[in-house]
Amino acid sequence: MGKTVLVVANWKSNGSLADAHVLAMGVRNECEHIDGVQVVLCPPAVWLTEVRNIVHDQIHHLAVGLQDISSEPAGAYTGEIAAALVAGLAQFVIIGHSERQRLYRESDEQLHEKIRAALTASITPVICVGEQQQSSTSKVTLARQLDRVLHTLTATQRNQCIIAYEPVWAISKGKLKSTRPASAEYANEVAEYLHRVVPATTKIIYGGSVDAANVLTFVAQPHLDGVLVGAASLHLREFSTLIKNAAKASDHADKYR
Ligand code: PGA
Repeated sequence: MGKTVLVVANWKSNGSLADAHVLAMGVRNECEHIDGVQVVLCPPAVWLTEVRNIVHDQIHHLAVGLQDISSEPAGAYTGEIAAALVAGLAQFVIIGHSERQRLYRESDEQLHEKIRAALTASITPVICVGEQQQSSTSKVTLARQLDRVLHTLTATQRNQCIIAYEPVWAISKGKLKSTRPASAEYANEVAEYLHRVVPATTKIIYGGSVDAANVLTFVAQPHLDGVLVGAASLHLREFSTLIKNAAKASDHADKYR
């Protein structure tokens, strides 16, 4: 099939410093023996430096990211993390996760500003889009949603982003195997449709109840370049197997069959 599979781990607001250390060390050991997968660990922001020190410069296909970023520049914004502060520390940032949109009411304009801030700081935005409920018009609604948050971005800038299709109904509340994922074929169809809004070379990944057992069905789809993983990324054994299984759809697949 021939691709590098992107696996983004969203740890959300979970784990102590010790947990972050153990998990990052474990993933690093796993990644040392795997090719064809780029793994991005997104710990809670307070553990960013710890995780980055573990993965940094050790292995080229392991990176760190944030789960959110400020739409404002550095300055008098209490509690915010400006993109400029983490430039060089984080290589990726998740923007517009449905939990943030639902719980903190982020507007399209704010998301747009966050994307611009990340790009200016040379941090790759992983932009989430997803429908509340599946319907026959979902794809059209999603494409509009994506176009709104990208509206002033050029094709080149759009190509620097990663799009995460995350149907809200498929995202777990944090427990492994508690929610049903979308079908891989449907996620692939949505990804193909979203390429009307972003260039054909823009990476699109799927998120929502991805685990070690189902990951390959997603990453083997022609229009999907990887996955965004929540609950399964917090369990080292599950996540290690997930990475190995994701690698089976990569350029290096022969090694893992
Ligand atoms: P989940 O979370 O894998 O636990 O469903 C995905 C996400 O929220 O990004």
